[in-house]
Amino acid sequence: VSRVCRAPFVFVRLEETELLEVGALLRGGTKLSPASRLVALSVLTGDESPLTPEELERLLAFPESEWADRPADDPVVDSLLERGLLLTDEDDPQLERLRRLGEQLESTQWHRHATLFHAMTRWRGVEVPELPERAELLPAPPEEYAAQFVAEFGPPPPHFYELEEPALVIDLPFDRHDTGLYATLRRRRTTRAFDPEAQLPSEQLATILDTVFGCYGTTELQGDSLALKKTSPSAGSLHPIEVYPLLLRIAGIEPGLYHYRTRDHALERVEALDDEEASSLATRFVAGQTYFAGAQALFLLTARFYRSFWKYRRHERAYSTLLLDAGHLSQTLYLVAAELGLGAFVTAAINGADIEERLGLDPVVEGAIAVCGAGVRAAGRSELEPEYEPYEPR
Ligand SMILES: Cc1cc2nc3c(=O)[nH]c(=O)nc-3n(C[C@H](O)[C@H](O)[C@H](O)COP(=O)(O)O)c2cc1C
Repeated sequence: VSRVCRAPFVFVRLEETELLEVGALLRGGTKLSPASRLVALSVLTGDESPLTPEELERLLAFPESEWADRPADDPVVDSLLERGLLLTDEDDPQLERLRRLGEQLESTQWHRHATLFHAMTRWRGVEVPELPERAELLPAPPEEYAAQFVAEFGPPPPHFYELEEPALVIDLPFDRHDTGLYATLRRRRTTRAFDPEAQLPSEQLATILDTVFGCYGTTELQGDSLALKKTSPSAGSLHPIEVYPLLLRIAGIEPGLYHYRTRDHALERVEALDDEEASSLATRFVAGQTYFAGAQALFLLTARFYRSFWKYRRHERAYSTLLLDAGHLSQTLYLVAAELGLGAFVTAAINGADIEERLGLDPVVEGAIAVCGAGVRAAGRSELEPEYEPYEPR
């Protein structure tokens, strides 16, 4: 006989809904009245589903940490298993996968609220709206859209922020530098128009990978394990972010999905792709943002969760360090690209679940955090890249 137990980290929340009033229905009307219902969240599937009081009772009857015999012919239990709310030791492939995810979730030291956030905000197969609906990208939103938006949501909060009643205001010396790093910082910008014909020299790709993701020093962490020194800061010097270059047009390197092997400054091929496959994969990964999929190289950033959680042990702030680490790497990429005269971008609008599947990752063990990219800018201006008026304070 097979056994069942409750999945780790099952969340239940209350949701407002509307129910048809039976009285009104009998009188031939259709009156809706507000009602509350329970919704169960499975961090293993990333899905929500309404939970009946009967289902809740069954869920409570199976402890999280103890296996119990699976009742025969029980459609409620069957449904809870399928929804990742109960786990079983049966060898059905889908149920087995959920059980493995549950075990990994326990053993990789996820904080329960971090896993809730991560699992429930992860995209699969999402396509962001086509232009011109993506008005936030345009230099100025189309009049009509902007007017509608403000009518619905009110005006935007003020762009600059100041204290209402500061105890003191001190004007600071103002001297902007425009050489070296200062000039590079000022050239940094998001590129949304890459040259579709151009190839990126492999030397430039190598420079980017080494400068942004390469290792410049080591110190002992524990036994044989090392803390790494890179050009970006990282919580605990652990550097849990990995980079998988998706290469579209690099001189002398076949298009494909690769992993950057930091130890040797080498590319490991995950899979070769033809031009069309590479381009459609890139578009899917960045959720239909074709202007980013046109870059010569995309860099898929993933986090090896346990590299961080080994040290932080279910710490409630550990997950946020992974997002910050990825953000630092993307800024370093922007700067290196600016220094090389290339364009760069970063996006959080990514189909993380699709990336993980394609890379063959167990999503609880290693997951996509962001995608950035770099390449040769197209000539001329793109209407997707706002032009900024120069600004100086005072
Ligand atoms: C975390 C993060 C997520 C972003 N996601 C997107 C995105 O999904 N699509 C996009 O076109 N730009 C995205 N951007 C780029 C911003 O729109 C861009 O940085 C901003 O417009 C300022 O332009 P600049 O980078 O040229 O200064 C993102 C930037 C950051 C930091």
